[in-house]
Amino acid sequence: MNILAFESSCDETSVAVVKDGREILANVIASSADLQSQFGGVVPEIAAREHVKVITAVIAEALAQAACTMEDIAAVAVTAGPGLAGSLLVGVSAAKALAYAYNKPLYPIHHLAGHICANFLCDPNFDVPYTGLIVSGGHSHLVTMDKEYNFQILGRTLDDACGEAFDKIARALGLPYPGGPQIDKLSFAGDSTRYEFPESHLQNALDFSFSGLKTAALTYINRAKMQAEQKGINWTDLLNINDFAASFQAAIIRTLVKHSEKALKLTQARRFALAGGVAANTHLREALAAMCRKNKVDFTCPDRILCTDNGAMIGAAAYYLILSGVKPTDSTLNAYPSWSL
Ligand code: KG4
Ligand code: ZN
Repeated sequence: MNILAFESSCDETSVAVVKDGREILANVIASSADLQSQFGGVVPEIAAREHVKVITAVIAEALAQAACTMEDIAAVAVTAGPGLAGSLLVGVSAAKALAYAYNKPLYPIHHLAGHICANFLCDPNFDVPYTGLIVSGGHSHLVTMDKEYNFQILGRTLDDACGEAFDKIARALGLPYPGGPQIDKLSFAGDSTRYEFPESHLQNALDFSFSGLKTAALTYINRAKMQAEQKGINWTDLLNINDFAASFQAAIIRTLVKHSEKALKLTQARRFALAGGVAANTHLREALAAMCRKNKVDFTCPDRILCTDNGAMIGAAAYYLILSGVKPTDSTLNAYPSWSL
């Protein structure tokens, strides 16, 4: 079954063709991140306009790369939320138009279900049931997916998302957007024990809170900037950026690994999956793989290109949604910016 899948919830316009939820025939991604970088983050208006500019070409390219026509497509799937309203609407409108014009069943997909289902595309042995961690620019969730392909949320962030914390601190350090990959890179040359960060203790041990960590990081940076100004020196002489990036990242990873291990103990799952943009982080991948090895649990993590937003993950999620027996929607489908999993 070939699924034509759309993803446009943030600043990536992506259209993919996925066969049987496992095989990528095409996964075309056009990103406006470079343009957004000039503004220090995603400007929703600009993101929506960029989607409109490129979506038709991205659809054509995806079908061409897959060597498909619409006749070869069994179903159309689209990220209907959560995300930026204007951005989501572009993908939803395009998917609805194609489904209607070619009389194909249409399936709305939750963005986070898409992220975690990217794991089906990377490991032929990956299957339900599993416990997973989704860490992106907008979300941090611990989830399980059962044999009927139902999701259950075990824990979530109570404030900032994990990627958001990376991006905000990177911005305060003067690094370009998106900040996660920048901090990842700098931390290779840094001492992760140099700066100390607080750990949050929450009622539900599987929930996350990154705002205390973010405030502590901003306090370090602002103090260094203030003292440097008084002394007439550069603030980077007072705060070693490599060590700081490594320490900040290590604090985030410690929390993610600890909570993931607790989630595995609770669910007794034999499989753990990592997903979302932050899953591209080298140290996080290594740390979670080590924790899973220790607990004799299989660990899966998508290739880096499938960690950040892409259409293929939506095609994979749609296949498993269809297997679960969900009926297709119709052309009344809307975008749902705050859709919860
Ligand atoms: O999943 P995604 O592409 O978009 C959302 O759904 O939000 O995630 C984007 C987030 C950004 O916050 C970005 O900084 C972060 O993923 N990210 C990383 C890395 N690559 C992307 N964070 C840490 N290390 C990375 N290597
Ligand atoms: Zn995402």
